[in-house]
Amino acid sequence: MANKSKFQAIRGTRDLLPPETALWNHVEETAHAVFDTFGFSEIRPPIFEPTELLARAVGGETDIVSKEMYTFEDRAGGLPDPGEMSPDGFLNEIRRAMNSGQLANDAAVIAQLEFQLENYNLRSDSERARLIWMYFVRGLRLGDSISLRPEATASVCRAYIEHNMQQLPQPVKLYYMGPMFRRERPQKGRYRQFYQIGAEVLGGGDAPAIDAEVIEMVMTFFDRVGLSGIELDINSIGHNAPDCRPAYVEKLKAALEKAKDKLGADSQRRIETNPLRVLDSKLEHEQPIIATLPRIADHLCAECAAHYASVKRQLELRGVFFKENWRLVRGLDYYMRTTFEVTAKGLGSQNAVCGGGRYDGLVELLGGLPTKGIGFAIGEDRLILSLQESGKGAAPHGRDVYIAWMGERAYATAVRAAKDLRNAGFSVELPPTESKFGKALERADKLGSRYALILGDNEVSEGSWTLKTLADGTQRKFTEPELLEFLTSVKVSGERL
Ligand code: HAM
Repeated sequence: MANKSKFQAIRGTRDLLPPETALWNHVEETAHAVFDTFGFSEIRPPIFEPTELLARAVGGETDIVSKEMYTFEDRAGGLPDPGEMSPDGFLNEIRRAMNSGQLANDAAVIAQLEFQLENYNLRSDSERARLIWMYFVRGLRLGDSISLRPEATASVCRAYIEHNMQQLPQPVKLYYMGPMFRRERPQKGRYRQFYQIGAEVLGGGDAPAIDAEVIEMVMTFFDRVGLSGIELDINSIGHNAPDCRPAYVEKLKAALEKAKDKLGADSQRRIETNPLRVLDSKLEHEQPIIATLPRIADHLCAECAAHYASVKRQLELRGVFFKENWRLVRGLDYYMRTTFEVTAKGLGSQNAVCGGGRYDGLVELLGGLPTKGIGFAIGEDRLILSLQESGKGAAPHGRDVYIAWMGERAYATAVRAAKDLRNAGFSVELPPTESKFGKALERADKLGSRYALILGDNEVSEGSWTLKTLADGTQRKFTEPELLEFLTSVKVSGERL
């Protein structure tokens, strides 16, 4: 039976292991390279942010914020332990911390504790009074509420404002990669800690060429990384003005009300909370009803319609193939106008490998100056899965050279040879302990080594080293400089070591 460890990775999280990590690195290096050619620079925001920022940006009613965030109270630093002082002493400390700004000033907190002190007569020395007091104190939310980021657009906008990036030449083009956290039901392609590679363009207007170039960049990246058979869907969801999206949403609502009886419970609820999300429904029996609903493209205001038409022309100009999908509404509140998604094959229901769109009001909503914005995020886990399914997984990491050494003098030479070869860029395995050549060669083979360098005391004293090609067993003798020259020539000649 397998040895089951007491500890396992938390549900929805996983270890990324070799050789797969090589593929992750390859994907990330490709993103760095491609995004750089489009003039983007990397930003690395923190992994947790104020809950308020995320709620405001993504939307308090969205699934992400209302159900899926990992939120916790940041323990208020430097506060005394309530168990080590009298209740009045503790209250004084909290008052002091609130006055000095160390804690948010909240008179209700003090009033509530004072009331409980009096009402339950907790100033006594009894153990019972102490326990009740501690119960009340522990129930307080004194620290700031912080959350693990479920996405990074909010962070990038916060950073743009915080670092006065509107003073830089506009637009500011940033990209990021790293883990995000959502407490979703884990399944294939859906994790609670997952990785995104994303990019944002902030400021500098809302020319449709910006939308098109951002989309072109994603598609170029997917092409470069070898992801084939993907589909790009685009849509425009208009903007928040009486003659645009809100008018459409009213029409949609009316149409949904008429069909309400035929809809499932989730969609029925969404007629009130977020009718656009009904368009997202995958339920079989709702599809014929959805097909008859009014379409947003027919209800865009003149400017949004012109913007959308221009985005499409700009995509065509760039040779980017797309499909219009009027049902593409996204699950985050900040979007307006252009939305897009890329889906890949072989991923089952979680087939979106990238989602993005325009979010012109977001920076302002977060306290900055009015600033246009557009961006996307790629689901790296799903991208890797899709690459693996199409046979583009990473090969195990072999070694260029395994140094099979025997004898003390040979060892000193082996150490030096390993250093020289590594400095020249070769991957070298130098076994830490001596073993018979037969055993060493077996191990070299298991590690997927291309060559074994055989160093015994004889070889060292003769200055003639034996290099064995493990694939065919052939051997050649070299002096030390010749060896380096030979290995380098094999590498330079394009043959991958
Ligand atoms: P999103 O659609 O929520 O958009 O996520 C983008 C991508 O992240 C998805 O298409 C999917 O590939 C991946 N993803 C999301 N949740 C999970 C999960 N639980 N497990 C695995 N992969 C997942 C955003 O996050 C926006 N911030 C994108 C954006 C940037 N829009 C404008 N700028």
